[in-house]
Amino acid sequence: EKGGYEHFMLKEIYEQPDAVTDTYRGRMLVEQSLIRMAGVDDNLERFLNADRIIIVACGTSWHAGLVAEYIFEDIARIPVEVEYASEFRYRNPIIGSKDVVIAISQSGETADTMAAIKLAKEKGAFVFGVCNVVGSSISRETHAGAYTHAGPEIGVASTKAFTTQITVLSLIALKLAKAKGAISNSDFQYHLEELDLIPEKIKQALASNEHIKKVAHKYMNAANFLYLGRGFNFPVALEGALKLKEISYIHAEGYPAAEMKHGPIALIDEKMPVVVIATKKGHYEKVVSNIQEIKSRKGKIIAVVTEGDQDVRSMADYVIEVPDTVEALTPLLTTIPLQLLSYHIAVMLGKNVDQPRNLAKSVTVE
Ligand code: M6R
Repeated sequence: EKGGYEHFMLKEIYEQPDAVTDTYRGRMLVEQSLIRMAGVDDNLERFLNADRIIIVACGTSWHAGLVAEYIFEDIARIPVEVEYASEFRYRNPIIGSKDVVIAISQSGETADTMAAIKLAKEKGAFVFGVCNVVGSSISRETHAGAYTHAGPEIGVASTKAFTTQITVLSLIALKLAKAKGAISNSDFQYHLEELDLIPEKIKQALASNEHIKKVAHKYMNAANFLYLGRGFNFPVALEGALKLKEISYIHAEGYPAAEMKHGPIALIDEKMPVVVIATKKGHYEKVVSNIQEIKSRKGKIIAVVTEGDQDVRSMADYVIEVPDTVEALTPLLTTIPLQLLSYHIAVMLGKNVDQPRNLAKSVTVE
Protein backbone atom coordinates (compact mmCIF):
# COMPACT_ATOMS: atom_id res chain seq x y z
CA GLU A 1 0.00 0.00 0.00
CA LYS A 2 2.96 2.31 0.53
CA GLY A 3 4.14 1.38 -2.95
CA GLY A 4 7.64 0.49 -1.80
CA TYR A 5 8.12 3.69 0.18
CA GLU A 6 8.97 3.59 3.85
CA HIS A 7 6.17 5.96 4.77
CA PHE A 8 2.97 7.32 3.27
CA MET A 9 4.37 10.82 3.58
CA LEU A 10 7.33 10.01 1.35
CA LYS A 11 5.07 8.25 -1.13
CA GLU A 12 2.80 11.26 -1.22
CA ILE A 13 5.70 13.65 -1.67
CA TYR A 14 6.81 11.59 -4.67
CA GLU A 15 3.29 11.42 -6.06
CA GLN A 16 3.22 15.18 -6.58
CA PRO A 17 4.22 15.24 -10.26
CA ASP A 18 1.28 12.97 -11.04
CA ALA A 19 -1.06 14.60 -8.55
CA VAL A 20 -0.52 18.05 -10.04
CA THR A 21 -1.02 16.64 -13.54
CA ASP A 22 -4.28 15.02 -12.42
CA THR A 23 -5.37 18.34 -10.97
CA TYR A 24 -5.09 20.27 -14.21
CA ARG A 25 -5.87 17.45 -16.62
CA GLY A 26 -9.04 18.21 -18.62
CA ARG A 27 -9.19 21.69 -17.12
CA MET A 28 -6.19 23.35 -18.68
CA LEU A 29 -6.23 23.10 -22.46
CA VAL A 30 -2.85 24.51 -23.40
CA GLU A 31 -3.29 24.23 -27.16
CA GLN A 32 -6.59 26.06 -27.05
CA SER A 33 -5.29 28.56 -24.50
CA LEU A 34 -8.29 27.78 -22.32
CA ILE A 35 -9.13 26.88 -18.74
CA ARG A 36 -12.36 25.01 -18.25
CA MET A 37 -13.69 24.48 -14.75
CA ALA A 38 -17.38 23.74 -14.42
CA GLY A 39 -17.70 25.13 -10.88
CA VAL A 40 -16.21 28.44 -11.98
CA ASP A 41 -17.77 28.60 -15.46
CA ASP A 42 -21.25 28.05 -14.05
CA ASN A 43 -20.78 30.89 -11.57
CA LEU A 44 -18.54 33.22 -13.53
CA GLU A 45 -20.68 36.30 -12.91
CA ARG A 46 -20.54 35.77 -9.15
CA PHE A 47 -16.77 35.66 -9.30
CA LEU A 48 -16.44 38.60 -11.67
CA ASN A 49 -18.83 40.80 -9.69
CA ALA A 50 -17.23 40.01 -6.37
CA ASP A 51 -15.87 42.99 -4.47
CA ARG A 52 -13.39 40.67 -2.88
CA ILE A 53 -12.65 37.05 -2.26
CA ILE A 54 -12.37 35.76 1.28
CA ILE A 55 -10.47 32.53 1.73
CA VAL A 56 -11.11 30.46 4.85
CA ALA A 57 -9.13 27.40 5.90
CA CYS A 58 -6.94 25.89 8.62
CA GLY A 59 -3.35 24.68 8.81
CA THR A 60 -1.67 23.80 5.55
CA SER A 61 -4.83 24.64 3.61
CA TRP A 62 -4.64 28.13 5.11
CA HIS A 63 -1.08 28.38 3.78
CA ALA A 64 -2.34 27.43 0.32
CA GLY A 65 -4.88 30.24 0.75
CA LEU A 66 -2.07 32.69 1.48
CA VAL A 67 -0.24 31.64 -1.67
CA ALA A 68 -3.50 32.10 -3.56
CA GLU A 69 -3.85 35.61 -2.17
CA TYR A 70 -0.61 36.60 -3.89
CA ILE A 71 -1.65 34.88 -7.12
CA PHE A 72 -5.21 36.27 -7.25
CA GLU A 73 -4.14 39.80 -6.47
CA ASP A 74 -1.16 39.79 -8.79
CA ILE A 75 -2.70 38.04 -11.77
CA ALA A 76 -6.44 38.62 -11.50
CA ARG A 77 -6.34 41.94 -9.60
CA ILE A 78 -9.09 40.83 -7.23
CA PRO A 79 -8.69 41.80 -3.57
CA VAL A 80 -8.32 38.77 -1.34
CA GLU A 81 -8.45 38.26 2.40
CA VAL A 82 -7.28 35.04 3.95
CA GLU A 83 -8.68 34.02 7.30
CA TYR A 84 -8.20 31.23 9.75
CA ALA A 85 -11.64 29.61 9.69
CA SER A 86 -11.59 29.45 13.50
CA GLU A 87 -11.14 33.23 13.79
CA PHE A 88 -13.53 34.11 11.00
CA ARG A 89 -16.41 32.18 12.51
CA TYR A 90 -16.22 33.90 15.86
CA ARG A 91 -15.47 37.50 15.00
CA ASN A 92 -18.80 38.62 13.53
CA PRO A 93 -17.29 39.20 10.07
CA ILE A 94 -18.66 41.86 7.72
CA ILE A 95 -19.75 39.85 4.76
CA GLY A 96 -22.59 40.05 2.27
CA SER A 97 -24.06 38.79 -0.96
CA LYS A 98 -21.36 40.33 -3.14
CA ASP A 99 -18.63 38.40 -1.38
CA VAL A 100 -17.19 35.19 -2.68
CA VAL A 101 -15.83 32.85 -0.04
CA ILE A 102 -13.41 30.10 -1.00
CA ALA A 103 -13.10 27.35 1.59
CA ILE A 104 -10.04 25.13 1.24
CA SER A 105 -9.93 21.71 2.92
CA GLN A 106 -8.12 18.52 2.05
CA SER A 107 -10.39 16.31 4.13
CA GLY A 108 -13.54 18.34 3.61
CA GLU A 109 -14.40 17.58 7.23
CA THR A 110 -12.63 20.27 9.26
CA ALA A 111 -15.10 21.55 11.87
CA ASP A 112 -13.94 25.17 11.96
CA THR A 113 -13.91 25.46 8.18
CA MET A 114 -17.38 23.95 8.03
CA ALA A 115 -18.68 26.44 10.60
CA ALA A 116 -17.14 29.34 8.64
CA ILE A 117 -18.92 28.14 5.50
CA LYS A 118 -22.27 27.95 7.26
CA LEU A 119 -21.83 31.45 8.61
CA ALA A 120 -20.86 32.85 5.20
CA LYS A 121 -23.89 31.19 3.62
CA GLU A 122 -26.21 32.62 6.24
CA LYS A 123 -24.91 36.07 5.38
CA GLY A 124 -25.64 35.52 1.72
CA ALA A 125 -22.14 34.97 0.35
CA PHE A 126 -21.42 32.59 -2.49
CA VAL A 127 -19.24 29.79 -1.13
CA PHE A 128 -16.87 27.81 -3.31
CA GLY A 129 -15.06 24.72 -2.00
CA VAL A 130 -11.61 23.42 -2.85
CA CYS A 131 -11.56 19.92 -1.37
CA ASN A 132 -9.66 16.75 -2.00
CA VAL A 133 -12.03 14.14 -0.60
CA VAL A 134 -14.88 13.61 -3.04
CA GLY A 135 -18.32 13.76 -1.45
CA SER A 136 -16.93 15.13 1.82
CA SER A 137 -19.12 17.28 4.08
CA ILE A 138 -17.58 20.55 2.92
CA SER A 139 -17.85 19.63 -0.74
CA ARG A 140 -21.56 19.06 -0.15
CA GLU A 141 -22.14 22.17 1.93
CA THR A 142 -20.60 24.63 -0.58
CA HIS A 143 -22.52 26.12 -3.52
CA ALA A 144 -19.93 24.98 -6.04
CA GLY A 145 -16.35 23.85 -6.04
CA ALA A 146 -13.36 22.22 -7.64
CA TYR A 147 -11.74 19.05 -6.40
CA THR A 148 -7.99 18.85 -6.17
CA HIS A 149 -7.85 15.23 -7.43
CA ALA A 150 -4.68 14.57 -5.44
CA GLY A 151 -5.78 11.03 -4.57
CA PRO A 152 -5.99 9.82 -0.97
CA GLU A 153 -3.60 11.54 1.42
CA ILE A 154 -2.85 9.26 4.37
CA GLY A 155 0.13 10.95 6.02
CA VAL A 156 -1.08 13.37 8.67
CA ALA A 157 1.40 15.95 7.40
CA SER A 158 -0.18 17.37 4.30
CA THR A 159 2.02 17.42 1.18
CA LYS A 160 0.38 16.68 -2.14
CA ALA A 161 -2.86 18.25 -0.95
CA PHE A 162 -0.98 21.55 -0.59
CA THR A 163 0.56 21.59 -4.07
CA THR A 164 -2.68 20.51 -5.72
CA GLN A 165 -4.64 23.17 -3.82
CA ILE A 166 -2.22 25.77 -5.16
CA THR A 167 -2.68 24.29 -8.63
CA VAL A 168 -6.48 24.56 -8.50
CA LEU A 169 -6.33 28.09 -7.11
CA SER A 170 -3.82 29.13 -9.80
CA LEU A 171 -6.16 27.81 -12.47
CA ILE A 172 -9.05 29.80 -11.01
CA ALA A 173 -6.94 32.96 -10.75
CA LEU A 174 -5.75 32.62 -14.34
CA LYS A 175 -9.24 31.92 -15.57
CA LEU A 176 -10.68 34.97 -13.82
CA ALA A 177 -7.76 37.11 -14.96
CA LYS A 178 -8.52 36.15 -18.55
CA ALA A 179 -12.26 36.73 -18.17
CA LYS A 180 -11.61 40.16 -16.64
CA GLY A 181 -9.00 41.13 -19.17
CA ALA A 182 -6.47 41.55 -16.36
CA ILE A 183 -3.89 39.44 -18.18
CA SER A 184 -2.77 39.62 -21.81
CA ASN A 185 -3.43 36.63 -24.04
CA SER A 186 0.27 35.98 -24.40
CA ASP A 187 0.94 36.14 -20.68
CA PHE A 188 -2.02 33.86 -20.03
CA GLN A 189 -0.69 31.37 -22.56
CA TYR A 190 2.79 31.63 -21.06
CA HIS A 191 1.43 30.76 -17.61
CA LEU A 192 -0.41 27.73 -18.97
CA GLU A 193 2.74 26.48 -20.67
CA GLU A 194 4.72 27.01 -17.48
CA LEU A 195 2.13 25.20 -15.37
CA ASP A 196 2.25 22.33 -17.83
CA LEU A 197 6.01 22.04 -17.16
CA ILE A 198 5.61 21.98 -13.37
CA PRO A 199 5.21 18.20 -12.93
CA GLU A 200 8.52 17.60 -14.74
CA LYS A 201 10.18 20.31 -12.67
CA ILE A 202 8.83 18.80 -9.44
CA LYS A 203 10.58 15.59 -10.53
CA GLN A 204 13.80 17.54 -10.92
CA ALA A 205 13.32 19.07 -7.47
CA LEU A 206 12.77 15.59 -6.02
CA ALA A 207 16.09 14.51 -7.51
CA SER A 208 17.85 16.54 -4.77
CA ASN A 209 16.62 14.01 -2.21
CA GLU A 210 20.06 12.56 -1.36
CA HIS A 211 21.57 15.98 -0.98
CA ILE A 212 18.66 17.06 1.26
CA LYS A 213 19.28 13.99 3.40
CA LYS A 214 22.78 15.29 4.09
CA VAL A 215 21.38 18.67 5.08
CA ALA A 216 18.89 16.90 7.36
CA HIS A 217 21.66 14.92 8.98
CA LYS A 218 23.69 18.05 9.61
CA TYR A 219 20.90 19.92 11.40
CA MET A 220 18.71 17.17 12.87
CA ASN A 221 19.80 18.03 16.40
CA ALA A 222 18.99 21.72 16.24
CA ALA A 223 16.48 22.88 18.83
CA ASN A 224 14.98 25.59 16.65
CA PHE A 225 14.68 26.50 12.98
CA LEU A 226 13.69 29.69 11.23
CA TYR A 227 12.11 29.71 7.76
CA LEU A 228 12.14 32.86 5.69
CA GLY A 229 10.61 33.80 2.36
CA ARG A 230 9.13 36.82 0.64
CA GLY A 231 6.19 37.44 -1.67
CA PHE A 232 4.72 34.26 -3.12
CA ASN A 233 7.20 32.28 -1.04
CA PHE A 234 6.43 33.80 2.33
CA PRO A 235 3.57 31.29 2.85
CA VAL A 236 5.93 28.52 1.73
CA ALA A 237 8.19 29.49 4.64
CA LEU A 238 5.22 29.15 7.01
CA GLU A 239 4.38 25.77 5.52
CA GLY A 240 7.99 24.56 5.77
CA ALA A 241 8.05 25.47 9.45
CA LEU A 242 4.71 23.76 10.10
CA LYS A 243 5.92 20.55 8.42
CA LEU A 244 9.02 20.45 10.58
CA LYS A 245 7.08 21.12 13.81
CA GLU A 246 4.44 18.52 13.06
CA ILE A 247 6.62 15.54 12.41
CA SER A 248 10.00 16.19 14.03
CA TYR A 249 8.74 18.16 17.07
CA ILE A 250 11.51 20.70 16.51
CA HIS A 251 10.36 24.23 17.17
CA ALA A 252 10.26 26.19 13.93
CA GLU A 253 8.90 29.53 12.88
CA GLY A 254 8.19 30.97 9.48
CA TYR A 255 8.52 34.68 8.78
CA PRO A 256 8.48 37.09 5.89
CA ALA A 257 12.22 37.62 5.43
CA ALA A 258 12.05 41.36 5.99
CA GLU A 259 10.28 40.95 9.34
CA MET A 260 13.39 39.33 10.75
CA LYS A 261 14.87 42.64 11.80
CA HIS A 262 11.72 43.44 13.76
CA GLY A 263 12.38 40.75 16.31
CA PRO A 264 13.39 37.23 15.31
CA ILE A 265 16.92 38.30 14.37
CA ALA A 266 17.58 38.38 18.13
CA LEU A 267 17.35 34.57 18.07
CA ILE A 268 20.12 34.09 15.54
CA ASP A 269 23.40 32.60 16.67
CA GLU A 270 25.68 29.81 15.46
CA LYS A 271 23.18 27.19 16.59
CA MET A 272 20.25 28.51 14.53
CA PRO A 273 19.63 26.98 11.10
CA VAL A 274 17.72 29.39 8.88
CA VAL A 275 16.01 28.05 5.79
CA VAL A 276 15.73 30.84 3.26
CA ILE A 277 13.77 30.68 0.04
CA ALA A 278 15.81 32.78 -2.34
CA THR A 279 14.68 32.04 -5.87
CA LYS A 280 15.85 34.43 -8.58
CA LYS A 281 12.61 36.37 -8.85
CA GLY A 282 11.15 39.58 -7.45
CA HIS A 283 12.81 40.59 -4.16
CA TYR A 284 15.84 38.40 -4.87
CA GLU A 285 18.33 41.15 -3.96
CA LYS A 286 16.41 41.89 -0.80
CA VAL A 287 16.53 38.26 0.25
CA VAL A 288 20.26 38.20 -0.49
CA SER A 289 20.74 41.08 1.92
CA ASN A 290 18.63 39.25 4.52
CA ILE A 291 21.00 36.30 4.08
CA GLN A 292 23.96 38.59 4.71
CA GLU A 293 22.35 39.77 7.94
CA ILE A 294 21.95 36.18 9.12
CA LYS A 295 25.49 35.34 8.07
CA SER A 296 26.99 38.22 10.01
CA ARG A 297 25.27 36.88 13.13
CA LYS A 298 26.70 33.42 12.46
CA GLY A 299 23.38 31.78 11.64
CA LYS A 300 23.51 28.67 9.48
CA ILE A 301 21.98 29.18 6.07
CA ILE A 302 20.13 26.56 4.08
CA ALA A 303 18.98 28.30 0.92
CA VAL A 304 16.48 27.14 -1.66
CA VAL A 305 17.66 28.73 -4.89
CA THR A 306 17.02 28.76 -8.60
CA GLU A 307 19.15 26.32 -10.55
CA GLY A 308 22.53 27.79 -11.41
CA ASP A 309 22.44 30.50 -8.73
CA GLN A 310 25.96 31.59 -7.74
CA ASP A 311 25.48 34.60 -5.47
CA VAL A 312 23.63 32.82 -2.69
CA ARG A 313 25.85 29.76 -3.04
CA SER A 314 28.84 31.80 -2.01
CA MET A 315 27.13 32.79 1.27
CA ALA A 316 25.04 29.78 2.25
CA ASP A 317 26.09 26.72 4.20
CA TYR A 318 23.94 24.57 1.94
CA VAL A 319 22.00 25.35 -1.20
CA ILE A 320 19.19 23.27 -2.61
CA GLU A 321 18.32 24.01 -6.23
CA VAL A 322 14.90 24.05 -7.84
CA PRO A 323 14.23 24.67 -11.55
CA ASP A 324 13.24 28.11 -12.75
CA THR A 325 9.60 28.94 -13.49
CA VAL A 326 7.28 31.94 -13.65
CA GLU A 327 7.17 33.65 -10.26
CA ALA A 328 3.57 32.84 -9.36
CA LEU A 329 4.28 29.12 -9.71
CA THR A 330 7.53 29.02 -7.71
CA PRO A 331 5.73 27.82 -4.53
CA LEU A 332 4.95 24.55 -6.32
CA LEU A 333 8.69 23.91 -6.56
CA THR A 334 10.16 25.55 -3.46
CA THR A 335 7.81 23.54 -1.23
CA ILE A 336 9.30 20.23 -2.36
CA PRO A 337 12.73 20.46 -0.68
CA LEU A 338 11.12 21.71 2.54
CA GLN A 339 8.85 18.67 2.64
CA LEU A 340 11.82 16.37 2.14
CA LEU A 341 13.93 18.18 4.72
CA SER A 342 11.32 17.81 7.44
CA TYR A 343 10.65 14.21 6.42
CA HIS A 344 14.30 13.18 6.69
CA ILE A 345 14.87 15.02 9.96
CA ALA A 346 11.84 13.30 11.50
CA VAL A 347 12.94 9.87 10.25
CA MET A 348 16.49 10.41 11.54
CA LEU A 349 15.08 11.38 14.93
CA GLY A 350 13.02 8.19 14.96
CA LYS A 351 9.64 9.95 15.00
CA ASN A 352 6.38 8.51 13.77
CA VAL A 353 6.23 10.42 10.51
CA ASP A 354 2.82 9.29 9.29
CA GLN A 355 1.08 9.62 12.63
CA PRO A 356 2.72 12.33 14.68
CA ARG A 357 1.74 12.62 18.33
CA ASN A 358 -1.34 14.65 19.22
CA LEU A 359 -2.44 15.12 15.61
CA ALA A 360 -5.31 13.68 13.59
CA LYS A 361 -5.77 13.61 9.85
CA SER A 362 -9.06 15.41 9.99
CA VAL A 363 -9.90 17.75 12.80
CA THR A 364 -13.63 17.32 13.24
CA VAL A 365 -13.83 19.07 16.59
CA GLU A 366 -13.23 22.78 17.08
O1 M6R B 1 -8.42 18.73 5.88
P1 M6R B 1 -8.06 20.16 6.01
O2 M6R B 1 -7.28 20.67 4.83
O3 M6R B 1 -9.24 21.06 6.28
O4 M6R B 1 -7.11 20.24 7.26
C1 M6R B 1 -6.62 21.46 7.76
C2 M6R B 1 -5.52 21.21 8.76
O5 M6R B 1 -5.99 20.49 9.85
C3 M6R B 1 -4.33 20.48 8.13
O6 M6R B 1 -3.82 21.15 7.00
C4 M6R B 1 -3.20 20.29 9.14
O7 M6R B 1 -2.61 21.53 9.46
C5 M6R B 1 -2.16 19.31 8.59
N1 M6R B 1 -1.77 18.39 9.62
C6 M6R B 1 -0.97 19.99 8.03
O8 M6R B 1 0.06 19.13 7.67
